[in-house]
Amino acid sequence: MIALSFIGRDGHALPAEASPGETLLRAGQRAGQPMEGTCGGQMSCATCHVLIDPAYIDLLAPPSPEEEDMLDLVPDATRFSRLACQIVMDDRLDGLTARLP
Ligand code: FES
Repeated sequence: MIALSFIGRDGHALPAEASPGETLLRAGQRAGQPMEGTCGGQMSCATCHVLIDPAYIDLLAPPSPEEEDMLDLVPDATRFSRLACQIVMDDRLDGLTARLP
């Protein structure tokens, strides 16, 4: 399993785990995080928006043009913003922290 943590809207960090190949969204939902994922990973809702720890952002596959287009619509997006439904976990991401905006 891949260890990660989510920083909730209250600022508290909660540990979680992901299986290799699982999306960050799925891992967050399984850990009880309030990540809606309304569109089921179709990149049409942005309810899975997270802010990735800067130390890990370059380890992620770059966002697709479709993901970038969706993030352009997110009012509080930063350069560390990603759609959790598009992040596929692997062992290199062990220790990743994602903040819920
Ligand atoms: S679940 Fe809708 S954009 Fe990620």
